[in-house]
Amino acid sequence: MIEIRNLTYEYEPGKPVLKNISFTVEDGERVGLIGANGAGKSTLMKLMLGLLESTDAVFADGVPVKKDTLPEIRRKLGFVLQNSDHQMFMPTVAQDIAFGLLNYGMGQTEADRKTDEVLNQLHVSYLKDKYNHRISGGEKRMAAIAAVLAMEPSALLMDEPTSALDPENRRRIIQLICSLPQTCIITSHDLDMILDTCSRVILLDQGGIIKDGPAETILRDRELLEAHHMELPLSLSRR
Ligand SMILES: Nc1ncnc2c1ncn2[C@@H]1O[C@H](COP(=O)(O)OP(=O)(O)OP(=O)(O)O)[C@@H](O)[C@H]1O
Ligand SMILES: [Mg+2]
Repeated sequence: MIEIRNLTYEYEPGKPVLKNISFTVEDGERVGLIGANGAGKSTLMKLMLGLLESTDAVFADGVPVKKDTLPEIRRKLGFVLQNSDHQMFMPTVAQDIAFGLLNYGMGQTEADRKTDEVLNQLHVSYLKDKYNHRISGGEKRMAAIAAVLAMEPSALLMDEPTSALDPENRRRIIQLICSLPQTCIITSHDLDMILDTCSRVILLDQGGIIKDGPAETILRDRELLEAHHMELPLSLSRR
């Protein structure tokens, strides 16, 4: 589904923030991208989505991710950015969700029905007619997740999906991710969430892949996590 070949990226010349990254994510896999602040997770995600440019290093479903393939890539890959503010285009939550659907040629009635369905699914129907600039950070996050869900992409890339969520909404998003048949790539500092949702983990430090393997093994390795400025998931450290 997603292939990355020898990807190196620098914002400023001579200062690479990603160094020679290669990995493949298969159809239906759920992968957690973890690493300390500044490790390169969001940069990697933006490159996968074509929000930052790379050359012949990232492929989605065999299609190279670059400027002229972006419309096609957008249909395949849904995303929730670390800051959901950058993802909202319309005044209200419902209009925003329907906007993407209408853009892809869905009729108004069907788009309205789909909008209601995803808001219901996430238990946030009360947000429907609220103005995007008058809702809380966590509500924005839920609205942004509802909007990608509505598009039914073949893969979902989520940067810190549960940050800012209360325990109940966090739990809902975990259950949602577990129930999705789609490929998911998730970054988070919430390693309990990664443990609950992902079968595979890729650990980044200073722009390099330190480890790529089963979530159960990597997230139980206290020494490895601590060496890279992380801690065991709470659910494992209590035992
Ligand atoms: N627009 C930018 N211009 C220059 N450097 C940047 C830019 N965005 C990020 N960086 C640098 O790139 C590196 C990786 O940043 P990135 O946002 O990918 O980290 P991250 O792993 O997502 O961190 P966090 O856990 O804090 O979200 C950091 O050193 C950061 O300072
Ligand atoms: Mg980030």
